[in-house]
Amino acid sequence: MAIERTLSIIKPDAVAKNVIGKIYSRFESNGLKIVAAKLAWLSPQEAGAFYAVHKERPFFNDLVSFMISGPVMIQVLEGEGAIAKNRELMGATDPKKAEPGTIRADFAESIDANAVHGSDGEDTAKVEIAFFFPAMSVYAGR
Ligand code: CMP
Repeated sequence: MAIERTLSIIKPDAVAKNVIGKIYSRFESNGLKIVAAKLAWLSPQEAGAFYAVHKERPFFNDLVSFMISGPVMIQVLEGEGAIAKNRELMGATDPKKAEPGTIRADFAESIDANAVHGSDGEDTAKVEIAFFFPAMSVYAGR
C-alpha cells in the first residue's frame, strides 16, 4: 500500500476534554506519523471555507458554529494507507454508530461534537492539507 498523507482535526469538544495526547497516541501506535501540527482557533470565515463542500447541507451553520466554539488541533498524518487508516481509527461520523474502541466511540458525544475530522479521499486530503499547511511546513524527511 502507498504512503499517503491525510488531514486530521481534533475538534473543540475533544480539545476541551484534554484528550489531544490520547488521540495522538492512537495515531502513533497505529503507524501514523504526525508530520505537521498546529493549534488554532478558527474564524467563522476559515471554518466556513474549510467546510465549503457542505455549504448547502442543513447542518452547515451548526457545523461552523461548533468548529469555532473553541480551539482545534490540526495535523497532517503520514503512513501506509493513511487516509483509510485514519478513518478506521476515527469510526463512523455519528458516534452512536461508531465501532467500539474507535476515537468517536470513546471520546465523542454527538454527530456535531464528534471529536475528530479526517479527509475522506486522496483528492480531499490534498486540498485540506494545502488549506492549513503550506508545503514548507510539512516535514518531508531528510
Ligand atoms: P466531519 O468529518 O468533520 O465532516 C463534516 C461534519 O458535519 C461531520 O464530521 C459532522 O460533525 C457534521 N455533521 C452534522 N450533521 C451531519 C450529517 N447529517 N451528516 C454528515 N455530517 C454531519
